[in-house]
Amino acid sequence: MRLAVLVSGSGTNLAALLRAIDGDGGFGGEVVVVGSDRSDAGGLRHARAADVPVVVEELGDHPDRATWEATLVERLKAHQPDAVVLAGFMKIVSADFLAHWPHRVVNTHPSLLPAFAGAHAVEEALAYGVKVTGSTVHFVDEQVDHGPIIAQEAVPVHPEDTEDALHERIKEVEHRLFPACIRALCRGELEVVGRRVHWAVPRP
Ligand code: GRF
Repeated sequence: MRLAVLVSGSGTNLAALLRAIDGDGGFGGEVVVVGSDRSDAGGLRHARAADVPVVVEELGDHPDRATWEATLVERLKAHQPDAVVLAGFMKIVSADFLAHWPHRVVNTHPSLLPAFAGAHAVEEALAYGVKVTGSTVHFVDEQVDHGPIIAQEAVPVHPEDTEDALHERIKEVEHRLFPACIRALCRGELEVVGRRVHWAVPRP
């Protein structure tokens, strides 16, 4: 399966995905393009280091959001991806975007959804005082951080946690869980029935 990966930040999840693909002949997928809404996204260096083509479209260079998104889609499509993976992509994609890859857009989110959807999941979990948060990998639908859940894993919150420390521990889990979910997608091992995702093999 040909994968497009979208990043806005440091791209450690992209790096974990590239490592997982590299070390596994049976992964069933390859990253054919990395896209970003930021020319300064740290994640782009992982793409360049792996010789993966990079596409950058900044919202501010377009008259409106629809034009920005349509241009991004067109540039991604030049690489013929079968699926799109959001790995710390900080823009919401529209129904028009999703229509290009039905049931083939996946996101990783740093909380146990449906708790703490949105861009400040780690900060909000800490402020709320939860004792457990975690990582969720899910298919993307028209609502933010809402689509069918592929896998989740809990991460305990420590009394002395800062947002950065907690996010780092969540990322350690993501770096394992997220590539495992993408691998299952690539190998055709996921079946979506309504909100439920069935794994054809034992879940990681
Ligand atoms: C991850 O924690 C992801 O869940 C969230 O943004 C973070 C991206 O981290 N959406 P990185 O850019 O992969 O290091």
